[in-house]
Amino acid sequence: MNHDLVEKNIGLMIIFIIIAISFGALVELVPLAFQKETTEPIKGLKPLNAMQLTGRDIYIREGCHVCHSQMIRPMRSETERYGHYSVAGESVYEHPFLWGSKRTGPDLARVGERYSDEWHRAHLYDPRAVVPESIMPAYPWLFNNEIDASMVGKKMAALRKVGVPYTDADIANAAESVQGKKEIDAMVAYLQQLGTLIKYKR
Ligand code: HEC
Repeated sequence: MNHDLVEKNIGLMIIFIIIAISFGALVELVPLAFQKETTEPIKGLKPLNAMQLTGRDIYIREGCHVCHSQMIRPMRSETERYGHYSVAGESVYEHPFLWGSKRTGPDLARVGERYSDEWHRAHLYDPRAVVPESIMPAYPWLFNNEIDASMVGKKMAALRKVGVPYTDADIANAAESVQGKKEIDAMVAYLQQLGTLIKYKR
């Protein structure tokens, strides 16, 4: 008979539905925060250095993540093409993560070391120079823009607050290591380390 009450009272029904759905979410999400597999860095994982971190921010600024995902799913069609599937422990220092789901271009989770630095430079300057059918935009200004060295130390300090293990020395030397370099150098440094910790046969 109590059931009658719920079925006839839409307000009560909504409250119970919210409670029911929240339990579902809690059961799925809360354990993830306590599982080593999802919270511990994989062996050898280091925070991005000053150049790579600067490159990552340029990657975000230029919207590369809008066309490129960084998440290889554990399915044969994915691993045959891109390599070992992505594991959570590779992303524990990523804030914000760039996994994405929309792919206009290929996944970049393991693009590191797949091409030479020169290939990346030519490709970013004019994608059609190396891939004639490419629809990727060109980014020639990366070759002219000098890196803003004043920001990178502050970014590292902020990331340290959310658990990325930068040392005082990393932060103190950050500006110097990007000083006078061009944005393209940072971008290539970032791309070349992507996914290289897990080796695989393609
Ligand atoms: C409008 C969508 C779009 C945007 C934005 C875009 N790309 Fe691409 N990208 C593509 C497409 C399509 C390809 C495949 C053709 C090619 O290689 O050029 C590609 C290919 C690539 C490749 C080669 C991947 C491989 O496995 O062969 C790299 C590296 C890459 N892009 C990096 C970038 C970077 C860095 C940026 C931002 C500066 C960027 N892309 C922005 C669409 C995009």
